[in-house]
This record gives sequence, C-alpha cells and structure tokens, in this order.
Amino acid sequence: MLALFVLIAISHISCALPSNETKRTESLIILDTGVGHRSTPVTRWRTSIRSLTNRGANSTVLAQFGPESNATFLQEPINGYSLAYSPSTSSLFSATGQGIVRTSLDGTESKVILTDHDGGMGQIMSLFVAEKDKKIYFGTLYEGLIKKANFDGTDIEVVRNVSQGLNYGIAPSYAPACFYPNGIAVDEERGFLYWSAAKGDNDGSIRRAPLQLSDQDHTQILVTGINMPGQIRIVGDSLLWAERGRWNNLPTAIKYLDRNLNRIPAPLPSSTAPALLALPTGTLVSSAQNKLFFEKDYTGEQQMLSIQSFVMYHGDVESTLWFVVQSSGRTVFGKLVEVHWRGSGDSRGPAFEVLNSNTTDIGVPVGLEYVR
Ligand SMILES: *[C@@H]1O[C@H](CO)[C@@H](O)[C@H](O)[C@H]1NC(C)=O
Ligand SMILES: *[C@@H]1O[C@H](CO)[C@@H](O)[C@H](O)[C@H]1NC(C)=O
Ligand SMILES: *[C@@H]1O[C@H](CO)[C@@H](O)[C@H](O)[C@H]1NC(C)=O
Ligand SMILES: *[C@@H]1O[C@H](CO)[C@@H](O)[C@H](O)[C@H]1NC(C)=O
Ligand SMILES: *[C@@H]1O[C@H](CO)[C@@H](O)[C@H](O)[C@H]1NC(C)=O
Repeated sequence: MLALFVLIAISHISCALPSNETKRTESLIILDTGVGHRSTPVTRWRTSIRSLTNRGANSTVLAQFGPESNATFLQEPINGYSLAYSPSTSSLFSATGQGIVRTSLDGTESKVILTDHDGGMGQIMSLFVAEKDKKIYFGTLYEGLIKKANFDGTDIEVVRNVSQGLNYGIAPSYAPACFYPNGIAVDEERGFLYWSAAKGDNDGSIRRAPLQLSDQDHTQILVTGINMPGQIRIVGDSLLWAERGRWNNLPTAIKYLDRNLNRIPAPLPSSTAPALLALPTGTLVSSAQNKLFFEKDYTGEQQMLSIQSFVMYHGDVESTLWFVVQSSGRTVFGKLVEVHWRGSGDSRGPAFEVLNSNTTDIGVPVGLEYVR
C-alpha cells in the first residue's frame, strides 16, 4: 500500500487554507484522433488538439492536423496516438499518422518535426519529453524501437531495441516487432527508462532499464500478464500505467506499482537476460467501479469505453487524477473524467466526476496533459 498511500492518502492537511496557486490558470489539453467515415451519425472531423479548463469547460480547438475535407473530396483523419507537453518550451508534441507535430501551447504554430519516414521508423505510438536532456523519446510500432531526437526533430538516435524479436510468421516481406513500446517514461533523476511492452491479450509487461546503458542488457521486467498496457507516468516515487483492455468488452484500468521507485533493486551489473521481478501492483481506477465506462451504441449494443490517457496532479491538499476514455465503433463516445479520493480507511475510494462527454467538445480523446 506504500505507493498508493503516497499518492492518494494525503488528506491530513485538508484544513489548510486554499493556497493562491488555485487561482493560477490551469488547463487540460486533449489530443483527439479525429473521426472518419465509419462513425454514426455520419460526421467527421480532423485530428486536433483542444484546450479546456480544468473543469472540462470552454473547449477550444488549438490546432488541426492533416488535410481538410471539402464538398467533392472527403478526407480521413490522419489519426493521433500520443500527446506530450514540454513546460520549459511551452510546446505540445503529438504523435500522429504523419509523424510528430510540435505545436505551441496557444496553438499558433504547428510543424511536423519528424515524419514516419525519417529513419524508416513506421508509426509512432508513444512519446515522452525529457526536459533536462532536451529530447523527445518516442516508440515505434513496426520496429519496436525507442528512439530520441531533439525538440526540433533533428539528431534521431536509437535508444533501445525493445522488440523482443521480430515476427516472421506473417509474410517474409513483413516482419514487425513482436512487442512495441506503447508507453514511455524517462526518470531523469534516477536514470531509468520505463516502457510498456504491448502485443496481444494478457502478454503485455512493464519494463525498465538504466538510461545510460543502451545495449540489450540490464532489462528488468517489473510486471507481466497485462492486457494492452498503454501510457506510463511517474508521479512522485510511484509508477502508474493505463491498461486499455484489448477488446471492447475487457476491463480497462489505471494501475500502479506497489513499490516505491527508490526501493526497486538495481539490475545486476553482469545481467545479460531480462530479469523477472514481478513486483506487486494495485488498482487506482477500474471499469468495474463505475458505469461511466459503459454506453449503448445506436443499435443498443453495450460498448465499453477504454482508458486512453491519464494525468495526475499532486497538489498541496489533495491529488487529482484526470483521464480520458473513448470508444469509436459504430457510435463515437468520448469522456473526460476527474477523480478524487474520498472517505477513510476501508471505505476510502475513488469519486468519479464526468467533466465532459460531448464529442463536439473533446473529440475522440487519445492523449491528455495538464498545464498550469
Ligand atoms: C495570496 O494572494 C493575496 C492577494 O493577492 C496576497 O496578499 C498574498 O500575499 C498571497 N499569498 C501568498 C502565499 O502568495
Ligand atoms: C468560459 O468562456 C466564457 C465565455 O467566453 C467566459 O465568460 C468564462 O469566463 C470562461 N470560463 C473560464 C473558466 O475560462
Ligand atoms: C477538394 O480537395 C481536393 C483534395 O485536397 C482538391 O484536389 C480539390 O481541388 C478540392 N476542391 C475544392 C472545390 O476545393
Ligand atoms: C531488434 O532486435 C531484434 C532481435 O530481438 C532484431 O531481429 C532486429 O533486427 C532489431 N532491430 C533493429 C532495427 O536493429
Ligand atoms: C456539445 O457541444 C457543442 C459545442 O460546445 C454544443 O453546441 C452542443 O449543444 C453540445 N451538445 C450537447 C448534447 O450538450
């Protein structure tokens, strides 16, 4: 319970006066993957980034990516996969179907800084901004590599091959990575690279390796048996990740490593094969806890909305978690949700508040950042 305690049980100063920081401008930024022809009712919009207040109001489209439809030519959205915010440069990085787009926080400038073809990498699934190092880290689907580049997209380097081998079983000319990094977190203080290794049902894992040792050695497998691990975040001394659930009827959750990051044993200096640690985990939020995760589509069939991205702010008085869920089958659903922890002892649990469930406002959300 240590990590969970650190994260959410900080109600001991709840009698403190509201600090001036609550008056600062706060916003939530969403990457919306866009909607194409499959949606019902038939509607479409471009891949976009949107800004909302921390209460989910006043949605503003900051930027739109990809070609625009017109009366004679209907374009499909270019799609979005991951969003990362850089406070030091006030910029947003979006992994899209056309590569990484950098946009200023006020939406005024958008530029593709790195395309899918730079270095033959294929689709980019995950992104992380390392502020000290001034690098963006990104994970590729086809090659199963973690790479890094400067904030302007130059100097692309391979950081680590996390493919766990290539799959030659499909076709001789098509050998994708067995696993791909679906979430990346760089712990610049402690010097570790964390990633979620995703493939199919229940065979995902959370792994880490020392940042400075870019060879294949020294990998530690922290957690296994995960159904589609996604985004990873380090919050204080804790590691959190999203489990998307592979299909629409499987549970979706945000989980945490029930071990302080300072207390994970260091990899052995000589280790050459991945070391299985299998540390204990806990569930912060799951679809079993609330009916907000379920909606009926226009045929009446129940759909489960899966968690795509989350962000946690660790305030003076309490912690706030926001996450986005979506389902984009026959009917498109998207929700922005805020969570606080209420009660004490055994009755302590998450209190959910859906801040916005209007897809005109939040699109089909796949990335979420908190800016203050
Ligand atoms: C909070 O704001 C008030 C009024 O603007 C100011 O007088 C006070 O010094 C501030 N307190 C802190 C701790 O910054
Ligand atoms: C939301 O927008 C309305 C109308 O533009 C404005 O009056 C209001 O102050 C805004 N609220 C916030 C919290 O920004
Ligand atoms: C519509 O978009 C297509 C593709 O971008 C373009 O070739 C065409 O000229 C556009 N038509 C009009 C009327 O703008
Ligand atoms: C990554 O490692 C696999 C073996 O695990 C190898 O087959 C593949 O060629 C490597 N990829 C690159 C780009 O070096
Ligand atoms: C959704 O948001 C749009 C734009 O903010 C608004 O015009 C529309 O009425 C909203 N729909 C619902 C069902 O609230």
